[in-house]
Formats: sequence, structure tokens, C-alpha cells
Amino acid sequence: MSVDHWEAYYRGGAIATCPMGPGTSYTLELRDLWLVFFATLDDDARVLDVGTGNGAITLLAKEAATAAGRQLEIHGADLAAIDPPRHVPNGASLFAGIAFHAGVPCERLGFADGSFDAVSGQYALEYTDTTRALPEIHRVLRTGGRALFVLHHERSVLIRNARESLVHGALVLQDTKILRKLRRHAAAEYDSAAASRATWAELSAATTRLQQAAASSASPHLLHVVIDGVQKLLGLRRELGAAGFEREVDRFEREVRAGVRRLQDLVGCAQSAEQMETMAANARSAGFECPAPGLQYHAGENLVGWRLALNRP
Ligand SMILES: C[S@@+](CC[C@H](N)C(=O)[O-])C[C@H]1O[C@@H](n2cnc3c(N)ncnc32)[C@H](O)[C@@H]1O
Repeated sequence: MSVDHWEAYYRGGAIATCPMGPGTSYTLELRDLWLVFFATLDDDARVLDVGTGNGAITLLAKEAATAAGRQLEIHGADLAAIDPPRHVPNGASLFAGIAFHAGVPCERLGFADGSFDAVSGQYALEYTDTTRALPEIHRVLRTGGRALFVLHHERSVLIRNARESLVHGALVLQDTKILRKLRRHAAAEYDSAAASRATWAELSAATTRLQQAAASSASPHLLHVVIDGVQKLLGLRRELGAAGFEREVDRFEREVRAGVRRLQDLVGCAQSAEQMETMAANARSAGFECPAPGLQYHAGENLVGWRLALNRP
């Protein structure tokens, strides 16, 4: 399975994939959940964060260990070609002491049996084939080991916003085809004034449609990125020259398409109550003790996911 749309995000340097505030990592209740989980571990415990991305949860493990005056051996693994020390600004010092494992699927972790005291995953387990990932997590956990996962909830704020952004993605890429209009306009400028007036009118109409959609949306982020991107590219077209401009529009379009694929992943992985019941049943079949999944809230009333806690008896 290709995860290049996630890799593109990680190369951009953001720490968390779904931060819910102005910062680039998890805050408030989500942060507390992880700090409490890691704070209960003994000195020298080994922790594995699966689907770690740019290592947001590994940093919380490190912070919890420092606060408790303990040493944790922290590992982060992901199917994607991750490299947080290189991709995140100041990463070498932020992630010092944390080991990352790129290209590692959760269904085949490759670590020794019973080699971890704890496994964590934030918006990670639901991206895997859980019928294979849960037995694999069970295998790498020692007897008495624990795992905690936060998973996308089909009715969470994030998923609601992602669904709306997907409608915006279709408006950009399929309905208005604004980037095609941008290319056509830039080419027409080398052609004739009349051609350029016609392509400018098309481009302006497309921009207006995106602006109107953004004005009436509670989640206009993708539209703003595209509107701003188009304006910026327009401003640079003479300086870039025809070939350079074409390259930059291609790069921008790849970025937009990768963003849409991440949103499709998010929405596709969101779990219903029935799916969570099945997942909990699969966890029990794999040998875990597993209480009923709980609801995870953030900043008070905002539902942001399911919580799945597992013990290996
Ligand atoms: C939404 S991101 C979460 C990243 C990180 N935990 C965070 O919260 O910022 C989901 C991650 O799952 C990874 N992923 C998808 N399928 C996977 C699999 N089968 N095994 C391991 N990781 C996987 C993706 O590469 C991506 O990095």
C-alpha cells in the first residue's frame, strides 16, 4: 500500500497529523491521556509507538519519562519512510534517544516476541489490517504489557471537517479545475491579449466559486490553501518563466492531491460503534483483555476519537 501522501506531509516537518489547536502537536486531554499512560511505566520500560508518523506520541513518552525521572527506551515505527530527526525542525535534538523504524507495517513489526512493555498508537491502528495487526502487537508485548490506541470516530469533529474538505477537494480538482485554468491562462499570456482576457475571466470565475464556498464553510482550510496558492503562483509567473511556472503548478497540484488522499484515508478509517465492537472482539481473540472502547473528548465537549485499551494477561 502506498503511503507517499503521508510521507509528503512528514517531509513538511509538522509533528502531528491531526493537531487540534494552534500548535503542531497534541494538546489538552489527548496530551494528558498519553502522559498518564507513559507515566505508569517502570524504569527502563520499552515503548513502541506504531503508525508514529513524525513521532508526536514518542515525544510525549519522552516528556512523561523526564517528568517522572525515569528512563524509557522509546521506539517509533511506521509503514511510511519516516525520519523525524531529519524532517522536523530541530529534530535531532528533539528526538535524541528515540529510535525510529521506517517501512515497518504494524501487521509485521519484526521485533522479538515479548520485547515491549507498552505499545501506543494515535490515529494509527485503524489504518492497518487489524485482524493481523492485533495478534502482532500481542506477540511483541510481554506478559503484563499494555497497549493504548486512539482511533478516528465516524462522528468526530475531525471526520466531519475532513468530509467537508473532501467536497472542497472535488470543487478544486473536478468542478472548477482551477489549476488547469491557471495553466491555460499563463500559456494564453504568451499568445494574444484577447486569449488572455478569456482565460483570465475563466480563472476569476473559478476563484470566486472557491471564495464563496470558503465563506460559507466551517472548515475552509483546503480552499484557503488553494486560493492563496493560485494567487502566489500568478504573482511568480513572469519570474519563473514558462517551464519553471509549469513545474511549480505541477508541484502544487501534487501537494493538493496528496492532501485529498490523506483526507480520504481519514474518512475511510473512521470507526463506527459496530466496527469498534468487532475490533475489541478481535483483540480478545488475539489474547488481550479489552474493556469496551471509550470515547475520547478534547477541549471539553469535542469528540475526537475512540479509546481502545488492551492488556496482555
Ligand atoms: C494519521 S497518521 C498518524 C501519525 C501519528 N501517529 C500522528 O498522530 O501524528 C497514520 C499513519 O499510519 C501509517 N500507516 C498506515 N498503514 C500502516 C500500517 N499498515 N502499518 C503501520 N503504519 C501504517 C501511515 O503511514 C501514517 O503515518
